[in-house]
Amino acid sequence: MIATADAIELETDRLLRSLMHVDCDPRGKTWNYETCRAIAPLTLEINQLKQEKDAVILAHSYVEPEIIYGVADFRGDSYFLSMKAREARAKVIVFAGVVFMAETAKILSPDATVVVPDRGSGCSLADSLTGAQLRELKALYPDATVVCYINSTAEVKAESDVCVTSGNVYHIVEHLPAKRILFVPDRLMGQNLREELRRRGVDKEIITSDGTCMVHDQFTPDDIAAARHRYPGLKVVSHPECPPEVAEVSDFVGSTGAMMKYVKTTGAPYYLMLTECGLVGRLQVESPEKEFIGGCRLCPYMKLNSLEKVRDALRAPRPDQIVTLDEDMRRRAARCIERMFELSPTD
Ligand code: 13P
Ligand code: SF4
Repeated sequence: MIATADAIELETDRLLRSLMHVDCDPRGKTWNYETCRAIAPLTLEINQLKQEKDAVILAHSYVEPEIIYGVADFRGDSYFLSMKAREARAKVIVFAGVVFMAETAKILSPDATVVVPDRGSGCSLADSLTGAQLRELKALYPDATVVCYINSTAEVKAESDVCVTSGNVYHIVEHLPAKRILFVPDRLMGQNLREELRRRGVDKEIITSDGTCMVHDQFTPDDIAAARHRYPGLKVVSHPECPPEVAEVSDFVGSTGAMMKYVKTTGAPYYLMLTECGLVGRLQVESPEKEFIGGCRLCPYMKLNSLEKVRDALRAPRPDQIVTLDEDMRRRAARCIERMFELSPTD
């Protein structure tokens, strides 16, 4: 597609209005007139291809801001995007995120062609546990209800009783009838869950496997103490994939969607966001009056997504970009995710 000079100018303006606010990138990447002008032909092409192919683009908040604000139809956290994937009536779903998210979209929308921009976009949590390893764990704890965090492979979901996300994990586990819970694959989220249930006076035994998120497991209470010292009135906002000693001294702990809501509805001058930098970029665009101090980190997997790869996956996906799942496994994984939708809080 050849865009006219006028169309490119208009698109540059549209991109610049959002992207000019983003300046939290530890790589030093910034967006100005020149960078927006350079990507405008590509975002125009992708938006045109979406119509031609009857495609929808779902983007997790951690991917590059030019994807989020340039071409995504829906942007958000894992729970929101899994609902959007389930409701999607498009022929093609492009998932700009990581592979387990695209697998979840395929599980919930089996008739759509689901594509990933980069097949290498794994996740240290999802990659920490195979279906076979989970079967071994289940044999050790046959009476446990198996709860998997959505950051897990389709095979692990197929072996689990119920799926959870960072936004509903406490609520769902609190209300499960079983006392013994086998929670996989996030050890740190499992520890945070144990603490939160204790605070709520809920008697459960939480057994975990040993995975961690390579981004969130890096944050320490010392990061927080140093920042609080420098910025009086600071609010510290963290994700439940962080270590419990970090969660304990944070002002708010929640999913990326809940973290955004907290910042947007809190009147503090400064925020330390203990999560992936993409979320800070989103807040700089959507809450430009707030100030975010350093601290966020990059997820190398999320950052494998690019506009060029999104365009290629839409134009003519290579076999490695198309998500396929064994049908029996898909059905079993779908049951585990549908159970999550049934048990999720309604607000
Ligand atoms: P949420 O956006 O669902 O909170 O998940 C965060 C995350 O690390 C996804 O990989
Ligand atoms: Fe996985 Fe962590 Fe990256 Fe999310 S931020 S995709 S949990 S490695």
